[in-house]
Amino acid sequence: PSTAGAFRIVAHPSPATEAERIERVGDMKFGMSFTDHMARITWTADGGWDDRRIEPYGPIPMDPAASVLHYAQEIFEGLKAYRWADGSVWLFRPEANALRFQKSAWRMALPELAVEDFMGSIRAFMSVEKDWVPTAPESSLYLRPFLIGTDVFLGLRAPKKVDYLLIASPSGPYFAGGVKPVSIWVEKDFHRAGPGGTGSAKCGGNYAASLRPQIEAGARGYDQVLYLDAATGLVLEELGGMNVFAVRSDGSVLTPVLNGNILEGVTRSSVIQLIEDQDLKVVERNITLAELREGIDSGEISEVFACGTAAIVTPVGRMGSDDFEVTVGDGQPGPVTLAVRQRLTDIQYGRADDAFGWMQ
Ligand code: COI
Repeated sequence: PSTAGAFRIVAHPSPATEAERIERVGDMKFGMSFTDHMARITWTADGGWDDRRIEPYGPIPMDPAASVLHYAQEIFEGLKAYRWADGSVWLFRPEANALRFQKSAWRMALPELAVEDFMGSIRAFMSVEKDWVPTAPESSLYLRPFLIGTDVFLGLRAPKKVDYLLIASPSGPYFAGGVKPVSIWVEKDFHRAGPGGTGSAKCGGNYAASLRPQIEAGARGYDQVLYLDAATGLVLEELGGMNVFAVRSDGSVLTPVLNGNILEGVTRSSVIQLIEDQDLKVVERNITLAELREGIDSGEISEVFACGTAAIVTPVGRMGSDDFEVTVGDGQPGPVTLAVRQRLTDIQYGRADDAFGWMQ
C-alpha cells in the first residue's frame, strides 16, 4: 500500500450542461452512459502510486502488448452514490469495497491500492461530478473503480505498470421491471470457480466465464445462472453477478458459506445484518441443490432471492435445470425478500435511520 496523495484536477474543456446531462443519460439503462470525468492513478514498480488525477472521461490509449489485453490482469469494484431527498449525496460502505479491492489485487498479483487512495479518488471525483447523481426513484450513480495491468511485456509476470481508474454511470435499476422475480437456471456443466481459484476475487475473468452459461440459460428461457461447486457439483455457490439466499418457512434464512470460491458481497453481508437485526436467524453453511429442491417442493423453503450492489435484492420466482423445474412459493416476491429490500434501500436513500453507520 502507498501513502495517499492529493488529486490534481484536469477539468473537462466543455462539461455537459444540465440539458446535455439529461439527454445523455436518457432513460438511465444500467451502465449505458458515463459522466464527464474519470479518476486515475498510475503505479509503477519503481515509483509506486503516482500522478493522482481527475481527468476528462475518454478512451485510454494502450500499447497492444499491455498485459491486461493478454493475461486479463484486471480487477474491479461496484458501488453506488445515492441522492437523498434533501439533495445530499451519500455512499454505502465504501471502505468495504476498498478492502475487497485490496484482496482482489493480492490474488491477481496486482499492487494493492491504499484505502485512503480508493476513498480519495471517489471524493475527488465526486467533488466535480456530483451533479450527475440522479434523482429518479431507485436510481444512483454507479461507480466502477478498476485496475488494469498496462506494462508492455508479453512474458507472464506480475505487471510492473498498472493503471487504476474510476468511471461512473448514472443508472436506473439493473433489471428492467424493478422487483419483478427473475428465473434461475441451475448450471451443472459449467462452473464459475474451483477450489483455490479466483472465485472470491472480483476479477473480470470470473464474469467473462459466466457469459457462455448465461447465453445457454437465456436460450432455455431463464434470466440468470446459479453455479454449483466445482469439486462435488452438489453445493450452491452463487449467480454470475449476485449472491443467493433461501428463506425457510420458519423465518430462518440460509446462504452459502464463504468457502473461498464465492464473492464476499457487500450487499450479502449487509443483508445478513439486516435480517439478524429483525431477530431472524441467518445460517451460513453449505446448501445442497437436493436440499433446496426438496425444500421448495415441500414448502419448507418459501423464498429465494439474489443480491448484489447493482441488482440490490432481487426475488427468484422460478428455478430449473435439465431435470427439474420448480416455482418458488407462489412465484411472487415473498415478505422476507421485500422487507429486507425495503430496509436496505430505505437506509441507502436516507429514508430510514442509518443504525449501522453504513452511509458516508
Ligand atoms: C455489482 O453488483 O456491482 C457487480 O459488480 C455485478 C456486475 C455484474 C454488475
